[in-house]
Amino acid sequence: MNVMTKVDELTEAAPANTFVETVTMVQHYTESLFRFRMTRPASFRFRSGEFVMIGLMIDGKPLFRAYSIASPSWDEELEFFSIKVPNGPLTQHLEKIQPGDAILMKKKPTGTLVNDALIPGKRVYMFSTGTGVAPFASLIRDPETYDKFEEVILTQTCRTVAELAYAKQLVEETKNDPLIGELAKERLRLFTSVTREDYPVRGRITTLIESGELFERLGLPPLDPGTDRGMICGSMAMLKDTKAVLEARGLTEGANNKPAEFVVERAFVG
Ligand code: A2P
Repeated sequence: MNVMTKVDELTEAAPANTFVETVTMVQHYTESLFRFRMTRPASFRFRSGEFVMIGLMIDGKPLFRAYSIASPSWDEELEFFSIKVPNGPLTQHLEKIQPGDAILMKKKPTGTLVNDALIPGKRVYMFSTGTGVAPFASLIRDPETYDKFEEVILTQTCRTVAELAYAKQLVEETKNDPLIGELAKERLRLFTSVTREDYPVRGRITTLIESGELFERLGLPPLDPGTDRGMICGSMAMLKDTKAVLEARGLTEGANNKPAEFVVERAFVG
């Protein structure tokens, strides 16, 4: 199959309403996970937590998938965290990109995992599994998140320990960042758990909320709609089950036009 990776060629072939951007760095974490960064069009604005359509021109046809933007809205580049699906129509090609390669991005960002869709509170929990951590990689690096919440708790659950590497690196770097480090250092916490390997904390996030283990380990009170807010990003099943757990604790789902106590989105990558 032919994937068009040269900027000039792609610019000529790109469909309407798409940007052609250049990859600036690629980092592979496991056989199934990698991140990449690319140039950001000067006119492109988004809210931290939103997603865009990312694509490649394959055999003369554009193919797009939704990707959460993992970089904050102030960053001069754009970052994405991706799964590699064997024989996945897009990711089997995307995983081979190198710095200097050109890729497509549709012009319009969107999404519900944004601060605007939550009412103010004391602390925000960002619940993720796998690549669902991507929109939170954006939000934990946005000063607005710390303006709105005193405490920011990012949780990630994966099958294996190796899959937690991106989130661990991200939180470490965020705490040491010259721009956001001061805010994040004392107020951002990462909670990780693993379901299919040995690890200090085992189990799905839904189980850990229901059993109370999450709160015991963090030294925090159980979920309270008066103080706590939630954002959820993972597989369809994880979204549904985590939403039910939050609702059972009295939190209601919000949206851009109707902010409330939690918001839900899924990691759309395939
Ligand atoms: P488990 O290993 O028990 O299935 P996946 O790669 O399938 O999306 O899973 C990523 C992580 O999300 C795994 O740790 C998995 O746990 C967990 N998970 C899968 N389904 C759910 C669900 N319905 N609710 C909560 N966590 C889930």
